[in-house]
Amino acid sequence: MDKKAKKIISFLTLLSCLTIVFTSCEKHNPNSPGVEFMPDMYRSPSLEGNMGYTSISNGNLMQGNKSPVVGTIARGFMPYIYGNDTAGYGMAGRNLHNPFEKNEINLKAGEELFGIFCVECHGSAGLGDGLVGIKLPGAPPSYTSAALKNLPEGKIFHTITYGKGLMGSHASQLTQEERWKLVLYVQKLQNQ
Ligand code: HEC
Repeated sequence: MDKKAKKIISFLTLLSCLTIVFTSCEKHNPNSPGVEFMPDMYRSPSLEGNMGYTSISNGNLMQGNKSPVVGTIARGFMPYIYGNDTAGYGMAGRNLHNPFEKNEINLKAGEELFGIFCVECHGSAGLGDGLVGIKLPGAPPSYTSAALKNLPEGKIFHTITYGKGLMGSHASQLTQEERWKLVLYVQKLQNQ
């Protein structure tokens, strides 16, 4: 082999080495680990819950976070039939009545919940002077004000459920039972 051929061969070898070095790591996917020594260590072959397996459609695995089946109710959850509008508010005020007796135990439960969820805005006596309440653009009215003194129990329940104005909904934090016990305590404050 003459000198020229040797040079060409070594040049070609160098070129292919460089090509391998610069192209072997995948550039398109920044999350790719590149060369994988033991792929199973990175990619579990088992099926994981909460992953979007679009190829499994028979419902054996959760696909992403699936919504509940239409027409079913979560255990312990009671649906609320009145809408979040003026008509629903009015109907709740006329038709809803507290299924819980006004006794010491239920009032105490209501008072405890009030201290956790409501006192920051409404104040411990429900005068609308809670630490957060007084900072709101419109502080909550006192439960003893002319507007709220005779507010029916159904409307109190409706407002705790959906919220009103600057007050948010408490339906996801409080069960219906807890909301009714709160109603008992709000009524105690209405008549203090
Ligand atoms: C973020 C502050 C805030 C919290 C927390 C809050 N409220 Fe209110 N609440 C308000 C404001 C503001 C209003 C006045 C709403 C309006 O009339 O626009 C109000 C109104 C009310 C009313 C009168 C409803 C009506 O129909 O006019 C009741 C009853 C009430 N709240 C009870 C509660 C109870 C019980 C809790 C705890 C579960 C609670 N609130 C938590 C701010 C709050």
